[in-house]
Amino acid sequence: MLFSTVKFRTLLAFTLLSVQITTGAVVFQNPDELPQGVEYDFVIVGGGTGGGVVAGRLGENTNWNILVIEAGPSNEDVFATRPPGLCRELPKTRVDWNYTTIPQEGLNGRSAAYTRGRMLGGCSSHNGMVYTRGSKDDWNRWARVIGDEALNWDNMLPTLLKKVERWTEDSENQPEQGHIDPSVHTHDGTVSATAPYSNHPFNEMLIETTKELSEEFPFKLDMNDGRPIGIAWNQFTIDHNAERSSSATAYVEKAGKNVHVLVNTYVTRVLSVENGTDFRGVEFAADAQSQRKQVVAKKEVIVSGGIIGTPQVLLNSGIGKRDELEAVGVKVLVDSPSVGKNLTDQVSALMLFQTTIQDTDYDRDAALAQWNETRTGPLVLPGHLNHIIYVRLPEDAAPFSELGFTDPTGGDNSPHIEFVFSQISSQPPATATDVPLPPSGGVTIQILAVNLHPISRGSVVLNSTDPFEHPAISFNMLSEGVDIAIMREAMKSARRMYSAPVFKNSVFGTVLPAANVTTDDELDAYIRSVASPFLHGVGSAAMSARDAGWGVVDPDFRVKGTSGLRIVDASVLPYVPSGHTQVPVYGFAERASVLIARMWE
Ligand SMILES: Cc1cc2nc3c(=O)[nH]c(=O)nc-3n(C[C@H](O)[C@H](O)[C@H](O)COP(=O)(O)OP(=O)(O)OC[C@H]3O[C@@H](n4cnc5c(N)ncnc54)[C@H](O)[C@@H]3O)c2cc1C
Ligand SMILES: *[C@@H]1O[C@H](CO)[C@@H](O)[C@H](O)[C@H]1NC(C)=O
Ligand SMILES: *[C@@H]1O[C@H](CO)[C@@H](O)[C@H](O)[C@H]1NC(C)=O
Ligand SMILES: *[C@@H]1O[C@H](CO)[C@@H](O)[C@H](O)[C@H]1NC(C)=O
Ligand SMILES: *[C@@H]1O[C@H](CO)[C@@H](O)[C@H](O)[C@H]1NC(C)=O
Ligand SMILES: *[C@@H]1O[C@H](CO)[C@@H](O)[C@H](O)[C@H]1NC(C)=O
Ligand SMILES: *[C@@H]1O[C@H](CO)[C@@H](O)[C@H](O)[C@H]1NC(C)=O
Repeated sequence: MLFSTVKFRTLLAFTLLSVQITTGAVVFQNPDELPQGVEYDFVIVGGGTGGGVVAGRLGENTNWNILVIEAGPSNEDVFATRPPGLCRELPKTRVDWNYTTIPQEGLNGRSAAYTRGRMLGGCSSHNGMVYTRGSKDDWNRWARVIGDEALNWDNMLPTLLKKVERWTEDSENQPEQGHIDPSVHTHDGTVSATAPYSNHPFNEMLIETTKELSEEFPFKLDMNDGRPIGIAWNQFTIDHNAERSSSATAYVEKAGKNVHVLVNTYVTRVLSVENGTDFRGVEFAADAQSQRKQVVAKKEVIVSGGIIGTPQVLLNSGIGKRDELEAVGVKVLVDSPSVGKNLTDQVSALMLFQTTIQDTDYDRDAALAQWNETRTGPLVLPGHLNHIIYVRLPEDAAPFSELGFTDPTGGDNSPHIEFVFSQISSQPPATATDVPLPPSGGVTIQILAVNLHPISRGSVVLNSTDPFEHPAISFNMLSEGVDIAIMREAMKSARRMYSAPVFKNSVFGTVLPAANVTTDDELDAYIRSVASPFLHGVGSAAMSARDAGWGVVDPDFRVKGTSGLRIVDASVLPYVPSGHTQVPVYGFAERASVLIARMWE
């Protein structure tokens, strides 16, 4: 990539204002620092995962000036974004939006905390770094529903997904043979990906399970080959220096000086200019008390606020369902009934198994000193254990045979269930603070069981005309019978896994759910009492075919019924992938960048 041309105007801005230069792009700390007289071709709302990609890619054309407006601070001011093992320390801090869902009937009326990154890089600056492309069925389904062949797996893998990936050896140069399939990886893209692992006796036991229970848990050499089914070594968006790779480090920090980033600044609305549906204006302010300012993009505004922020900005701008906007007192400019609708997320539930296997606990401060000094030790990994497990239920599994539900996945290459390992410890997992602790304080293997493809759909709805107030968020979690039926199978599947002969003398029954929780009704009650969203939400500003009677954006990421306005983030995905969401967001954002650049070049 070429980032050599420094624009004269920007140079001027450098000398006149003592701006802080922390990234490749030029960062302004508050609205008052923004240079006067710069005309921006593109204004990007939200410097998160999707927004960072678009900023970096459009910035490759040095004739264009790009402005990114991000509510939170720069990732460079947040040390805990760098060592992978500190990722658990980021939620519930100033770089978290601290969203909470409204009470969820399917979760016994509980509300669920919903963490989202509030800094440059968005969730890619605070997520778990798991690197999963999803299945080929996921991409083919998106392509089919959206009506864009370019999104097919066979088209994406050799082009845009390749552009995303910079595969490297992990920081400890550990052997990769038997851990990944090099033929599905490439080295020239942007986001660093590696397969670091720790040495722990549990590794060999799990691999043994793939032999003992090979039908349900086959060994999977590489979960990124389009068919993620089986037990695989994990892969992460971590670089060769054992640091997190995010859209901020991989795109924004590599951008040229024609990319300006205004941090600590909240976008309240997009504004129509010229006529009622041409939304190239953006209104913003440092906070609720500060004066609001405006900027108009010469070419386009791209909203990348994520699954909550994006529909919120649109609704505040008068783009949404007419009667709902009127009810709250927002003037309707575009009646777009799907904005904020069809929000969905995967469902996760904690399971604890009593064990005598060596724990994975470590001293946090010693580990940090080691990471600081040598980039080795426990903090080179986000978690404590090294595998990820995907299970596809057979056609005759209870949800489909006895209960007659339709398969919610995109096809035979897609799993229904994921297991991720948290730790082996007597401490509760950091991710599940609202979950009752095991009765005996013993050491447990802690895993999250996940239903990857729930069909329940919820919404993001305004609760007031104040753009700074959080909207009402609901996933309608576990409101559909098939969703809990698959969760139940996940519980049973995990128990089968730990009954493999290899675990006979080291894993003893479940502590959570308790061993006496066995019938479907008992399992359901347990699931509803502990389940929470897996933090992979999508769908709240869904992309649909040009002629569809629903959806928010067209296959070119344009907001239907408007001009000058696109959306590029997880909210456009109409379905979740068979895995974690960041790679699909990177892929979609690369696609959007191609379409936008092509239109204006
Ligand atoms: C804790 C956690 C762990 C995760 N772990 C993984 C994982 O291991 N692997 C994986 O693949 N995925 C993971 N994910 C999911 C993945 O990171 C997200 O799906 C993806 O990054 C979302 O990208 P996005 O562009 O849609 O939104 P975001 O990255 O959230 O970007 C939105 C940006 O817009 C900004 N913004 C919002 N509203 C406004 C406004 N009004 N004004 C200005 N700025 C605004 C936000 O601050 C943010 O920077 C995880 C998510 C979380 C929360
Ligand atoms: C989120 O909550 C934490 C802890 O309660 C708080 O310190 C932080 O400031 C909050 N984040 C924001 C953006 O308000
Ligand atoms: C509004 O303006 C945009 C561009 O300036 C144009 O594409 C669009 O057709 C106009 N819409 C109306 C309703 O005039
Ligand atoms: C939600 O998505 C489905 C397609 O998956 C669509 O049929 C439906 O109309 C959408 N609902 C809204 C309100 O957009
Ligand atoms: C590690 O480095 C960071 C950043 O330089 C510093 O804040 C922290 O105190 C260091 N920690 C240890 C234990 O060395
Ligand atoms: C909506 O606003 C009302 C009145 O201010 C408040 O009581 C309620 O908690 C809000 N709901 C949400 C989901 O924020
Ligand atoms: C399981 O056993 C515990 C403790 O003995 C008891 O409190 C609980 O009600 C039992 N649950 C079921 C479903 O039998």
